Amino acid sequence: LQGKGRMAEPDAIAAFVGGLLREKKKSLQGKRLIVTAGATIEAIDPVRFISNHSSGKMGYAIAGELADRGACVTLVTGRTELPTPAGVERVDVLSATEMYDAAVRAFEGSDGAVMCAAVADYTPDRVSDTKIKKCDGDMCITLRRTRDIAAELGAHKGGRLLVGFALETHDEQAHAEAKLEKKNFDFIVLNSLRDAGAGFRGDTNKVTFIDRTGREELPLLSKREVAERIAERIEEFFAE
Ligand code: PMT
Repeated sequence: LQGKGRMAEPDAIAAFVGGLLREKKKSLQGKRLIVTAGATIEAIDPVRFISNHSSGKMGYAIAGELADRGACVTLVTGRTELPTPAGVERVDVLSATEMYDAAVRAFEGSDGAVMCAAVADYTPDRVSDTKIKKCDGDMCITLRRTRDIAAELGAHKGGRLLVGFALETHDEQAHAEAKLEKKNFDFIVLNSLRDAGAGFRGDTNKVTFIDRTGREELPLLSKREVAERIAERIEEFFAE
């Protein structure tokens, strides 16, 4: 069960071999980067919570790609079944507050961050210690705003890199541009739930990069290919 002869977990072996097969030029060697991924979970009581559909796949693909290019990657992740990409340091969190604390802490000594997590904007005002019993009438849960992690990092980023995501369902371009400015991103990756194969859970995504000089719309790609394109932009940022 333990010691030298113990076989590593199959997921770990697959991730390691995958890394060898994708062997890349170590263009991000020496860079410390943070990636947030997955959904946060906001408890209502010991058995119920508020969350969203993020699987973590997009963020994990980015973390893996950056690590393959030599970056030292800290992956701040909500709950997921995904294996940790080879060479990535993983910090597990549940709530938006936990993700905020972990991301702010990791950002201090870093060269930048990619904010791919789907973070709850609201959390229950109070968490019941015991299971809330149903009664005849309707019930009401008061929600309060969570802190915006990306906006906090953006306000203190200095010369560091900050990449954001925007998940939209309408007026995509305008909403993404507003987030680019408000959160002080260097560029934002827009994905729309109106595009087939884009967004949550699947293995593909259709994204548009937006920065202060313009936009680049990509075709439908695997999430790993999207991660490669993001990594290329990050390389350009550090090359400037
Ligand atoms: O995980 P998958 O199933 O692969 O799905 C991938 C994805 C759809 C989750 C991903 O591609 C994506 O779009 N992630 C961002 C989702 C999101 O919450 O977008 P937003 O438009 O609400 O947030 C804008 C930006 O602010 C994001 O970078 C987000 O990480 C960040 N944010 C938002 C709220 C908050 N409290 N803190 C944040 O950091």
